Amino acid sequence: MWFAMDIKKTRRVSKSVGIALLTGMFGVQLAHAGKWLPLNKDGLHDRRSPGLELLQSPQDALGSLPTDTAGNKVNWSRAMDERLIKPRGALAGDKKVQILDLNIVMTDTAGHPNVLFPHKVHTQWLDCANCHESLFKSKTGATPVTMGSILRGEHCGVCHGAVAFPLTECRRCHLLPQEG
Ligand code: HEC
Ligand code: HEC
Ligand code: HEC
Repeated sequence: MWFAMDIKKTRRVSKSVGIALLTGMFGVQLAHAGKWLPLNKDGLHDRRSPGLELLQSPQDALGSLPTDTAGNKVNWSRAMDERLIKPRGALAGDKKVQILDLNIVMTDTAGHPNVLFPHKVHTQWLDCANCHESLFKSKTGATPVTMGSILRGEHCGVCHGAVAFPLTECRRCHLLPQEG
């Protein structure tokens, strides 16, 4: 058990112990991922366009990064952890990235496994102001988040399904067993 027990609150906070274990479990699923179609076969680009050969092929650009089964088939968190990519803190200047290691457990899941929201991974990519106080209040349970709001592109759905792994990956968010 790696979160503080408080049965009155529906959401709880904890440190990241156990995350490595959980992501390790997904390693199995990642083994058979990561084949990028050439641009002239991906059904998205006009294969007769003479401009096509000016574009880098996805295999060239992404092939050396850890693979994933969904989205653009790169596991970006692992790419960052393994220091294969080192994004800058800001477009200009050398702003220091502020990492927060704080997990939020969200338990309004109608019998589905509980949701673990890890601040650590998110703050490696994002600034606090990307989420607080507009998408989420910085107080556990203060923002009414539902699967419906997420599917409508609000809350987690502002990014997941758009720029971060898609909503079809239920278990990546719903990964904590319900307490018995
Ligand atoms: C990707 C979005 C996102 C980013 C970026 C983010 N947070 Fe959060 N934060 C959340 C969510 C989601 C919750 C839980 C909200 C809820 O339960 O309604 C939360 C909750 C919190 C809480 C409340 C914890 C408690 O005990 O009640 C604090 C404090 C907080 N965040 C601080 C920060 C700080 C400081 C940063 C930047 C270093 C940050 N957050 C970055 C999404 C984010
Ligand atoms: C990006 C993270 C994320 C993904 C992916 C995700 N969920 Fe959720 N889900 C949530 C959050 C956050 C809540 C709200 C939990 C809370 O408020 O305590 C939620 C709530 C729910 C609920 C509770 C009822 C409701 O409407 O809120 C159900 C059922 C549910 N999700 C099912 C699913 C299924 C099925 C999938 C895959 C098709 C899925 N979720 C994918 C984050 C996610
Ligand atoms: C402002 C954008 C943004 C919002 C809002 C956001 N995420 Fe994410 N999330 C990301 C990015 C970027 C990543 C890393 C790239 C990826 O895994 O696709 C990520 C990664 C994750 C991961 C993977 C962690 C790992 O170890 O690989 C989980 C779980 C997750 N998000 C859950 C949530 C949940 C639950 C919510 C809503 C409560 C949420 N996210 C809201 C952008 C966001």
